[in-house]
Amino acid sequence: MGILDIGIVQSYIRMCEDGWQQGWHERNGGNLTYRMKKEEVAACRPFFYKPSEWVDMGVTGENLAGEYFLTTGSGKYFRNVALDPIHSIGIVEINPEGNAWRIVWGLKGGARPTSEFPSHFMNHSVRAEATKGECRVIYHAHPANLIAMTYLLPLNARDFSRALWKSATECPVVFPGGVGVVPWMVPGGAEIALATSQLMKKYDAAVWAHHGLFCSGPDFDTTFGLMHTIEKAAQIWVLVQSAGQGKVLQTIEDDQLRAIAKDFGVCLREEFLN
Ligand code: 13P
Ligand code: ZN
Repeated sequence: MGILDIGIVQSYIRMCEDGWQQGWHERNGGNLTYRMKKEEVAACRPFFYKPSEWVDMGVTGENLAGEYFLTTGSGKYFRNVALDPIHSIGIVEINPEGNAWRIVWGLKGGARPTSEFPSHFMNHSVRAEATKGECRVIYHAHPANLIAMTYLLPLNARDFSRALWKSATECPVVFPGGVGVVPWMVPGGAEIALATSQLMKKYDAAVWAHHGLFCSGPDFDTTFGLMHTIEKAAQIWVLVQSAGQGKVLQTIEDDQLRAIAKDFGVCLREEFLN
Protein backbone atom coordinates (compact mmCIF):
# COMPACT_ATOMS: atom_id res chain seq x y z
CA MET A 1 0.00 0.00 0.00
CA GLY A 2 1.28 3.45 -0.94
CA ILE A 3 0.01 6.98 -0.38
CA LEU A 4 -1.76 6.81 -3.76
CA ASP A 5 -3.99 4.03 -2.38
CA ILE A 6 -5.37 6.32 0.34
CA GLY A 7 -8.98 7.31 -0.33
CA ILE A 8 -8.61 11.07 0.03
CA VAL A 9 -5.61 11.16 -2.34
CA GLN A 10 -7.56 9.11 -4.88
CA SER A 11 -10.60 11.41 -4.60
CA TYR A 12 -8.37 14.47 -5.05
CA ILE A 13 -6.78 12.97 -8.19
CA ARG A 14 -10.23 12.05 -9.55
CA MET A 15 -11.39 15.66 -9.21
CA CYS A 16 -8.34 16.88 -11.16
CA GLU A 17 -9.09 14.35 -13.88
CA ASP A 18 -12.76 15.38 -13.96
CA GLY A 19 -11.79 19.05 -14.38
CA TRP A 20 -9.43 18.14 -17.22
CA GLN A 21 -12.21 16.11 -18.91
CA GLN A 22 -14.49 19.17 -18.75
CA GLY A 23 -11.95 21.27 -20.69
CA TRP A 24 -11.41 23.75 -17.86
CA HIS A 25 -7.64 23.20 -17.56
CA GLU A 26 -5.74 24.05 -20.73
CA ARG A 27 -1.98 23.61 -20.25
CA ASN A 28 -1.27 24.36 -16.54
CA GLY A 29 -4.50 26.37 -16.09
CA GLY A 30 -6.30 26.06 -12.77
CA ASN A 31 -5.38 24.67 -9.37
CA LEU A 32 -6.94 22.66 -6.53
CA THR A 33 -6.26 22.64 -2.78
CA TYR A 34 -7.76 20.51 -0.03
CA ARG A 35 -7.40 21.08 3.74
CA MET A 36 -6.81 17.61 5.14
CA LYS A 37 -8.58 16.13 8.15
CA LYS A 38 -6.44 14.97 11.11
CA GLU A 39 -7.07 11.29 10.34
CA GLU A 40 -6.14 11.80 6.68
CA VAL A 41 -2.85 13.43 7.69
CA ALA A 42 -2.21 10.48 10.04
CA ALA A 43 -2.86 7.99 7.21
CA CYS A 44 -0.48 9.85 4.86
CA ARG A 45 2.24 10.63 7.43
CA PRO A 46 4.17 7.34 7.00
CA PHE A 47 4.83 8.43 3.40
CA PHE A 48 6.03 11.98 4.24
CA TYR A 49 9.64 12.92 3.43
CA LYS A 50 12.07 15.03 5.37
CA PRO A 51 10.31 18.43 4.92
CA SER A 52 11.66 21.16 2.64
CA GLU A 53 12.56 24.63 4.00
CA TRP A 54 9.70 26.96 5.04
CA VAL A 55 8.65 29.33 2.23
CA ASP A 56 6.94 32.61 3.14
CA MET A 57 3.53 33.13 1.47
CA GLY A 58 3.21 36.91 1.81
CA VAL A 59 -0.19 36.40 3.50
CA THR A 60 -1.19 35.16 6.96
CA GLY A 61 -4.05 32.95 8.08
CA GLU A 62 -3.59 32.34 11.80
CA ASN A 63 -6.57 29.96 11.92
CA LEU A 64 -4.74 27.63 9.50
CA ALA A 65 -1.51 27.28 11.53
CA GLY A 66 -0.30 23.68 11.50
CA GLU A 67 -2.79 22.54 8.84
CA TYR A 68 -1.85 20.27 5.91
CA PHE A 69 -3.03 20.86 2.33
CA LEU A 70 -3.08 18.74 -0.79
CA THR A 71 -2.17 21.09 -3.66
CA THR A 72 -1.50 21.01 -7.37
CA GLY A 73 1.96 22.13 -8.45
CA SER A 74 2.75 25.40 -10.15
CA GLY A 75 3.11 24.95 -13.90
CA LYS A 76 1.77 21.40 -13.65
CA TYR A 77 -0.94 20.13 -16.00
CA PHE A 78 -4.25 18.72 -14.70
CA ARG A 79 -4.01 16.41 -17.71
CA ASN A 80 -1.00 14.71 -16.09
CA VAL A 81 -2.18 14.48 -12.47
CA ALA A 82 -3.64 10.96 -12.68
CA LEU A 83 -0.74 9.69 -14.82
CA ASP A 84 2.08 11.24 -12.79
CA PRO A 85 0.80 12.35 -9.39
CA ILE A 86 4.13 12.50 -7.57
CA HIS A 87 5.46 15.26 -9.86
CA SER A 88 2.10 17.04 -10.33
CA ILE A 89 0.63 17.32 -6.83
CA GLY A 90 1.90 17.40 -3.25
CA ILE A 91 1.18 17.90 0.42
CA VAL A 92 2.35 21.03 2.27
CA GLU A 93 2.37 21.79 5.97
CA ILE A 94 1.67 25.31 7.30
CA ASN A 95 3.96 26.78 9.98
CA PRO A 96 2.80 27.73 13.52
CA GLU A 97 2.54 31.43 12.48
CA GLY A 98 0.23 30.62 9.55
CA ASN A 99 2.38 32.46 6.98
CA ALA A 100 4.66 29.84 5.36
CA TRP A 101 4.50 26.37 3.83
CA ARG A 102 6.91 23.46 3.45
CA ILE A 103 6.58 20.37 1.27
CA VAL A 104 6.20 17.04 3.07
CA TRP A 105 5.19 14.83 0.13
CA GLY A 106 5.03 14.94 -3.70
CA LEU A 107 6.01 17.90 -5.93
CA LYS A 108 9.08 15.87 -6.87
CA GLY A 109 11.80 17.30 -9.08
CA GLY A 110 11.82 20.80 -7.59
CA ALA A 111 8.13 21.58 -8.11
CA ARG A 112 6.32 24.07 -5.86
CA PRO A 113 2.67 24.54 -4.84
CA THR A 114 0.47 26.45 -7.29
CA SER A 115 1.36 30.10 -7.85
CA GLU A 116 -2.18 30.80 -6.60
CA PHE A 117 -1.44 29.20 -3.23
CA PRO A 118 -1.74 32.61 -1.46
CA SER A 119 -5.27 33.02 -2.93
CA HIS A 120 -6.22 29.45 -2.03
CA PHE A 121 -4.79 29.87 1.45
CA MET A 122 -6.60 33.14 2.20
CA ASN A 123 -9.83 31.73 0.76
CA HIS A 124 -9.44 28.66 3.01
CA SER A 125 -8.86 30.98 5.94
CA VAL A 126 -12.03 33.06 5.45
CA ARG A 127 -14.23 30.15 4.29
CA ALA A 128 -13.15 28.02 7.30
CA GLU A 129 -14.16 30.95 9.50
CA ALA A 130 -17.46 31.58 7.65
CA THR A 131 -18.48 27.88 7.71
CA LYS A 132 -17.24 27.00 11.22
CA GLY A 133 -14.56 24.73 9.77
CA GLU A 134 -16.79 22.94 7.22
CA CYS A 135 -15.07 24.30 4.10
CA ARG A 136 -12.12 22.17 2.96
CA VAL A 137 -11.88 22.59 -0.82
CA ILE A 138 -10.83 25.60 -2.91
CA TYR A 139 -10.91 25.07 -6.68
CA HIS A 140 -9.77 27.46 -9.41
CA ALA A 141 -10.54 26.71 -13.07
CA HIS A 142 -10.65 28.49 -16.45
CA PRO A 143 -14.16 27.65 -17.78
CA ALA A 144 -14.59 29.35 -21.15
CA ASN A 145 -18.22 30.52 -21.01
CA LEU A 146 -17.90 32.13 -17.60
CA ILE A 147 -14.77 33.93 -18.79
CA ALA A 148 -16.66 35.07 -21.90
CA MET A 149 -19.38 36.59 -19.69
CA THR A 150 -16.78 38.87 -18.08
CA TYR A 151 -16.46 40.72 -21.43
CA LEU A 152 -20.18 41.40 -21.69
CA LEU A 153 -21.59 42.15 -18.23
CA PRO A 154 -20.69 44.89 -15.74
CA LEU A 155 -18.12 43.44 -13.33
CA ASN A 156 -20.20 43.30 -10.17
CA ALA A 157 -21.73 40.57 -8.01
CA ARG A 158 -25.34 41.70 -8.56
CA ASP A 159 -25.27 41.57 -12.37
CA PHE A 160 -23.40 38.24 -12.47
CA SER A 161 -25.53 36.57 -9.79
CA ARG A 162 -28.79 37.65 -11.46
CA ALA A 163 -27.65 36.57 -14.94
CA LEU A 164 -26.53 33.15 -13.66
CA TRP A 165 -29.61 32.55 -11.47
CA LYS A 166 -31.88 33.34 -14.43
CA SER A 167 -29.97 31.05 -16.81
CA ALA A 168 -31.20 27.80 -15.28
CA THR A 169 -33.90 27.06 -12.72
CA GLU A 170 -31.66 25.07 -10.35
CA CYS A 171 -29.07 27.85 -10.04
CA PRO A 172 -30.68 29.82 -7.22
CA VAL A 173 -30.91 26.56 -5.26
CA VAL A 174 -27.23 25.65 -5.82
CA PHE A 175 -25.77 29.11 -5.10
CA PRO A 176 -28.46 31.18 -3.35
CA GLY A 177 -25.79 33.55 -2.03
CA GLY A 178 -24.74 34.49 -5.59
CA VAL A 179 -21.17 34.96 -6.82
CA GLY A 180 -18.60 37.66 -6.09
CA VAL A 181 -16.64 39.37 -8.88
CA VAL A 182 -12.98 40.41 -8.68
CA PRO A 183 -11.99 43.03 -11.30
CA TRP A 184 -9.04 42.21 -13.57
CA MET A 185 -5.85 41.93 -11.51
CA VAL A 186 -2.42 40.40 -11.95
CA PRO A 187 -2.76 36.75 -10.83
CA GLY A 188 -0.49 34.82 -8.51
CA GLY A 189 0.20 37.12 -5.56
CA ALA A 190 -0.90 38.55 -2.24
CA GLU A 191 -2.93 41.44 -3.73
CA ILE A 192 -5.40 39.27 -5.69
CA ALA A 193 -5.43 36.81 -2.76
CA LEU A 194 -6.62 39.53 -0.37
CA ALA A 195 -9.17 40.95 -2.84
CA THR A 196 -10.64 37.47 -3.46
CA SER A 197 -10.73 36.48 0.19
CA GLN A 198 -12.60 39.71 1.05
CA LEU A 199 -15.38 38.53 -1.31
CA MET A 200 -15.21 34.93 -0.07
CA LYS A 201 -16.32 36.17 3.35
CA LYS A 202 -19.74 36.63 1.69
CA TYR A 203 -19.75 34.27 -1.29
CA ASP A 204 -18.71 30.67 -1.82
CA ALA A 205 -17.65 31.43 -5.41
CA ALA A 206 -15.77 34.37 -6.93
CA VAL A 207 -15.28 35.26 -10.60
CA TRP A 208 -11.88 36.56 -11.72
CA ALA A 209 -12.55 38.92 -14.65
CA HIS A 210 -11.10 37.67 -17.96
CA HIS A 211 -9.44 34.78 -16.09
CA GLY A 212 -11.68 32.20 -14.39
CA LEU A 213 -13.56 31.17 -11.29
CA PHE A 214 -12.82 30.20 -7.67
CA CYS A 215 -15.23 27.84 -5.90
CA SER A 216 -15.24 26.58 -2.32
CA GLY A 217 -17.02 23.80 -0.51
CA PRO A 218 -16.95 21.14 2.19
CA ASP A 219 -16.01 18.27 -0.15
CA PHE A 220 -14.97 17.49 -3.73
CA ASP A 221 -18.50 16.66 -4.99
CA THR A 222 -20.05 19.91 -3.76
CA THR A 223 -17.19 22.09 -4.98
CA PHE A 224 -16.92 20.43 -8.39
CA GLY A 225 -20.73 20.59 -8.64
CA LEU A 226 -20.67 24.32 -7.93
CA MET A 227 -18.06 24.97 -10.64
CA HIS A 228 -20.02 22.77 -13.05
CA THR A 229 -23.36 24.46 -12.31
CA ILE A 230 -21.98 27.99 -12.67
CA GLU A 231 -20.19 27.16 -15.92
CA LYS A 232 -23.30 25.43 -17.33
CA ALA A 233 -25.38 28.52 -16.48
CA ALA A 234 -22.74 30.71 -18.15
CA GLN A 235 -22.88 28.49 -21.24
CA ILE A 236 -26.66 28.92 -21.44
CA TRP A 237 -26.28 32.68 -20.96
CA VAL A 238 -23.73 32.88 -23.79
CA LEU A 239 -25.90 30.69 -26.05
CA VAL A 240 -28.95 32.87 -25.41
CA GLN A 241 -27.02 36.10 -25.99
CA SER A 242 -25.46 34.84 -29.21
CA ALA A 243 -28.47 33.02 -30.64
CA GLY A 244 -30.78 35.93 -29.73
CA GLN A 245 -28.23 38.56 -30.75
CA GLY A 246 -28.76 40.23 -27.38
CA LYS A 247 -32.58 40.08 -27.54
CA VAL A 248 -34.31 37.92 -24.92
CA LEU A 249 -38.03 37.20 -25.26
CA GLN A 250 -38.60 35.82 -21.76
CA THR A 251 -36.65 34.85 -18.66
CA ILE A 252 -37.14 33.69 -15.06
CA GLU A 253 -38.71 36.68 -13.29
CA ASP A 254 -37.64 37.89 -9.85
CA ASP A 255 -40.83 36.67 -8.19
CA GLN A 256 -40.24 33.26 -9.75
CA LEU A 257 -36.76 33.24 -8.18
CA ARG A 258 -38.43 34.06 -4.85
CA ALA A 259 -40.89 31.17 -5.38
CA ILE A 260 -38.04 28.70 -6.01
CA ALA A 261 -36.23 29.90 -2.88
CA LYS A 262 -39.40 29.50 -0.79
CA ASP A 263 -40.16 25.98 -2.00
CA PHE A 264 -36.57 24.76 -1.76
CA GLY A 265 -35.98 26.40 1.61
CA VAL A 266 -32.97 28.49 0.56
CA CYS A 267 -32.27 32.13 1.36
CA LEU A 268 -31.63 34.15 -1.82
CA ARG A 269 -29.56 37.31 -1.40
CA GLU A 270 -32.52 39.73 -1.36
CA GLU A 271 -30.43 42.81 -2.29
CA PHE A 272 -29.85 41.20 -5.73
CA LEU A 273 -33.58 40.95 -6.47
CA ASN A 274 -35.81 43.68 -7.91
P1 13P B 1 -0.30 27.42 -11.59
O1 13P B 1 0.25 26.53 -12.69
O2 13P B 1 0.81 28.10 -10.82
O3 13P B 1 -1.24 26.65 -10.68
O4 13P B 1 -1.13 28.59 -12.25
C1 13P B 1 -2.22 28.32 -13.09
C2 13P B 1 -3.26 29.37 -13.03
O5 13P B 1 -4.40 29.10 -13.35
C3 13P B 1 -2.90 30.73 -12.57
O6 13P B 1 -4.04 31.49 -12.29
ZN1 ZN C 1 -5.82 30.77 -13.38
